[in-house]
Amino acid sequence: MIKRPRRLRDSDRLRRLARETRISKDSLIYPIFVTQAQREEIPSMPGQYRESLESLPGRAEALLNAGVSAALLFGIPINKDEAGSGAYSPDGIVQKAVELLKREFPELYAICDTCMCEYTSHGHCGHINEDGYVDNDKSLELIAQTALSQAQAGADMVAPSDMMDGRVAAIRGILDSAGFERVSIMSYAAKYASAFYGPFREAAGSAPAFGDRKQYQMDFHNSREALKEIALDIEEGCDIAIVKPALSYLDIIAKAKSQTNIPIAAYSVSGEFSMIKAASAAGYIDEDAIVAESAVSIFRAGADMLITYYAEEIAAFVASGRIG
Ligand code: PBG
Repeated sequence: MIKRPRRLRDSDRLRRLARETRISKDSLIYPIFVTQAQREEIPSMPGQYRESLESLPGRAEALLNAGVSAALLFGIPINKDEAGSGAYSPDGIVQKAVELLKREFPELYAICDTCMCEYTSHGHCGHINEDGYVDNDKSLELIAQTALSQAQAGADMVAPSDMMDGRVAAIRGILDSAGFERVSIMSYAAKYASAFYGPFREAAGSAPAFGDRKQYQMDFHNSREALKEIALDIEEGCDIAIVKPALSYLDIIAKAKSQTNIPIAAYSVSGEFSMIKAASAAGYIDEDAIVAESAVSIFRAGADMLITYYAEEIAAFVASGRIG
């Protein structure tokens, strides 16, 4: 009979030695919004900006200095149209941004979000038919074209977030036939129809003009459906699967990690960021402590990497030994 169980929390050294979850700065991805207009703070996301092409290099430099070496780029065009043509134009804002970044900061791993909703006047993620429904197959052509134009501009990886069926295969096909075999695909495989995207839609001006995204994003009552979506995307050739949002979906991250064999990225989305910001601004919570604990919990659940607006702060916590 053991009189007193040994406890890993007995000493600080032992605690560090025995930690089950380790965080590396290499596992962090920072989302950047790039606008064709002026640099501007995003009202619903204090401290986050829509960067202009002029301010983008400064942002990239700050990230690299903090030890964050991967960025996920979103474009915000001045003009949107029915067809979302800004998404796949060679002169589109994301194409320009990625060209600039890869020229000035080749060590920054540049990922482009591949979607239509920031570029369409109706705000949906694909082509809308006369009946008001998204046309899956027509959307596929535009999404694949968008991915190709991003690869041509220098993207290291494309991240389709539209949720159309068959898009990973369509993108893999067009990239391979154009000689971009080495451009990877990180698919938003398990993307829930979530109210946590609210601040992002303000940031990108991409709230749907009518209806919602429930036709193509997942119902949050389901978890096995997420595994099915990930399995389909793996079959179509995706390299990394995203679970999104993160904090309310830790169970999905854990299942995806244990039941699939590709790296899992968790996306801690705009609403998660804004909740922490607002509560800490009101003095209700300690921002740094909450950010540190939340990040660790997402990795503990099984995420291999984390897409987060707090990437620089988390990198600083890792550097100082606060976490990780
Ligand atoms: C585009 C896209 C969205 C997000 C990432 N890519 C918005 C949406 O689906 O409405 C959300 C990111 C965030 O909230 O931080 N389809």
